[in-house]
Amino acid sequence: MLSSRTSLARQSCLRNVSLYSKRFASTKSLRETMKEVIPPKQEQLKKLKVEHGQTVVGDVKVDNIIGGMRGLKAMLWEASVLDPIEGIRFHGLSIPDCQKVLPAAPAGKEMIPESMLWLLLTGQVPTAEQTKELSRELAEKGDLPKFVEDLVDSFPRSLHPMTQLGMGVAALNHDSQFQAAYEKGIKKSEYWTHTLEDSINLIARLPALAARIYRNVYKPGTELAGVQKDLDLVGNYSNMLGYGHNETLTEYLRLYIALHGDHEGGNASAHTAHLVGSTLSDPYLSYSAALFALAGPLHGLANQEVLRWQLAMQKELGDKISQEDIKAYLWKTLNSGQVVPGYGHGVLRNPDPRFIALQEFCDSRSDLKSSPIIDLVNKTFQVAPNVLKEHGKTKNPYPNVDATSGCVLYHYGLTEFKYYTVIFGVSRALGCLTQLVWARALGLPLERPKSLSMDALTKIIKQ
Ligand SMILES: CC(C)(COP(=O)(O)OP(=O)(O)OC[C@H]1O[C@@H](n2cnc3c(N)ncnc32)[C@H](O)[C@@H]1OP(=O)(O)O)[C@@H](O)C(=O)NCCC(=O)NCCS
Repeated sequence: MLSSRTSLARQSCLRNVSLYSKRFASTKSLRETMKEVIPPKQEQLKKLKVEHGQTVVGDVKVDNIIGGMRGLKAMLWEASVLDPIEGIRFHGLSIPDCQKVLPAAPAGKEMIPESMLWLLLTGQVPTAEQTKELSRELAEKGDLPKFVEDLVDSFPRSLHPMTQLGMGVAALNHDSQFQAAYEKGIKKSEYWTHTLEDSINLIARLPALAARIYRNVYKPGTELAGVQKDLDLVGNYSNMLGYGHNETLTEYLRLYIALHGDHEGGNASAHTAHLVGSTLSDPYLSYSAALFALAGPLHGLANQEVLRWQLAMQKELGDKISQEDIKAYLWKTLNSGQVVPGYGHGVLRNPDPRFIALQEFCDSRSDLKSSPIIDLVNKTFQVAPNVLKEHGKTKNPYPNVDATSGCVLYHYGLTEFKYYTVIFGVSRALGCLTQLVWARALGLPLERPKSLSMDALTKIIKQ
């Protein structure tokens, strides 16, 4: 099943030679592949610096400075680029491309985070064997140190799961190889290798940490499964959450965590990881900081808000909801001065391809198709863009990934809204940590933009 899927996918992928040439990894290990792909990138950066260091790529307007740096092209981020119309591309591959070519779990169909991680790190599509080997390594390294278990177990149940996750990740830096090597004294050219080891170790441990938080907060006193060496990352995560028996939910989590893994560098969590990492803080501290950015309501919490809003709509409108009812409910939300959660985006100007991919997942499963909450998400999608256009404020009247992501979890009984951002946090580690490895491999400097006071800005304007 898997090999025929992979071979079909490869044929389709190879049609576009310019995009996919040299896409497929050989039989090399992840570390060997990294050693191979880094020098040409270092050369590329050197050339850019020497030949085009003074080329102007855009203007800085006052609006950029006071408007949260929206649209300002000011960061180097290797693994993905977000196009306002097409959506995210990972090393040039769109989400449908990735769904065609990235290997699935042995018994599954959806691309898995391991294959996405390999693509993000190397720019190459791994084979099924390489993906399996990465799964094996992650499972091997997946257990938490005892003191981190004790630390997490000591948190009050009322402490927000995201606070717990950030603190747990920061504590894991006790074992940072980068920090230990730096203290001993290493060459700059070796920074990336230790950063990679820390990143792999952190990604490996995230499921056990995140599942322990879930158990402690929502199912205290129940037994927590251990990391199984023969399961993939999400197979283990789902199992430790208590959903290992639910293959559809596990597959959904695989897809969700893979396609949510990176969304270029300017979003708050990615940018935070990059900024903190640029001080040579180790990957644990850098990603812990990113998680606290993700915990903000304008960033990672939107999926829980969508669910709250759709359930309130369902409660108010009853079982048989017409398009007119939804339209009226949307206007009620907007007229009360609230945003429609799950709609709009800082960069995107089309329906989010991540939303489309998750919708397709639901469409292909009969139980999800008949789920009232998912049906309501679909019906809302049919009405909301026109209402938002008529409302006339948002630059993007279309759904983002969060319009649907929490509803599938809810359908299968994972109903604890506050936990949803933790799953996002497990996912976003893939992109943030990849960037830290590349930042060290490329020798990117300490980030230090220039700030201005309003008086200083006014002085420049007068000049
Ligand atoms: C994602 C989001 C924060 C992007 O913000 P942004 O880049 O400032 O978006 P825009 O430039 O389109 O905003 C312009 C105006 O439209 C409004 N707007 C944007 N999205 C809206 C929505 N879904 N519903 C109603 N109004 C919206 C903004 O609040 C802003 O109003 P203002 O001029 O009164 O301040 C915003 O679209 C939003 O709040 N969406 C709902 C929450 C959500 O789904 N977040 C998840 C993002 S992945």
